[in-house]
Amino acid sequence: MRPPAFLRPMLFKDRAIIRLDSVDSTNDYASNLVKHLAPTEGTVVTAQEQVGGKGQRGTMWESELNENLLCSIILFPTYLSHANYFYLTKVVALALRELVEEHTEKEVYIKWPNDIIVNNKKIAGILIETIWNDQKMQSAVVGIGLNVHQTKFENNKATSIKILNPKLGDVEECLKGLLNYLDKYLLLLQSGQYTTIARLYREHLFKLGQVSKFIYHDMELDAMITGVDEAGRLRLYTDNGESLNCGLKEIRFVF
Ligand code: BTN
Repeated sequence: MRPPAFLRPMLFKDRAIIRLDSVDSTNDYASNLVKHLAPTEGTVVTAQEQVGGKGQRGTMWESELNENLLCSIILFPTYLSHANYFYLTKVVALALRELVEEHTEKEVYIKWPNDIIVNNKKIAGILIETIWNDQKMQSAVVGIGLNVHQTKFENNKATSIKILNPKLGDVEECLKGLLNYLDKYLLLLQSGQYTTIARLYREHLFKLGQVSKFIYHDMELDAMITGVDEAGRLRLYTDNGESLNCGLKEIRFVF
């Protein structure tokens, strides 16, 4: 059972929340704040609409006006290095996964590296943009898009809270919940609880131990997911008995 809110440690007590009607991308807006205005850690930028919303691998993130949660959170995790960078991805995915579970009352998975999946459909995505100073992370803009009210999507592999649970879904509540869950998992990260984070991420990994289809260096591949390595590469066991550790640029789920 979760402790009541007043007993939970809060990471960013007096965080600023910048609310915009329309913006190109909340991630770009937040990155500009980091570059030019020295915002405090935990600052959130949220918008009703993005006209140039960015997704992973150079894609666009589409979202209807006023329907969904679009936000970016500014962090300064200077304790992270290239070796443990992927733990930031893990904790953000764990926070968003738990929020979606609370708001849909369904089983929710993390599709490597950080898509949030319910009923085999994507409900939320994460785009983390970082700035490095030598070997240490200087800042991270954690961009989150969560489908809340939207019920029609061009992509038939997308879903929303409203579709899954018509009684639930309120964008403001989702933002509040997200910030609480992020605090909870960032505290694990800050206190160096890497084994716990890795275990939780693995526990919720989509298709773990199952054979799935992938595109690997432009070729179709059937392989079983066996986990994720320290650097965040997906571990696969192929149908011809080979073990592979694959980076984001090498492999894509056929989904
Ligand atoms: C993905 O492709 O899964 C990542 C999607 C991330 C979308 C969010 S919406 C808020 C923030 N601003 C952006 O431009 N992108 C992220």
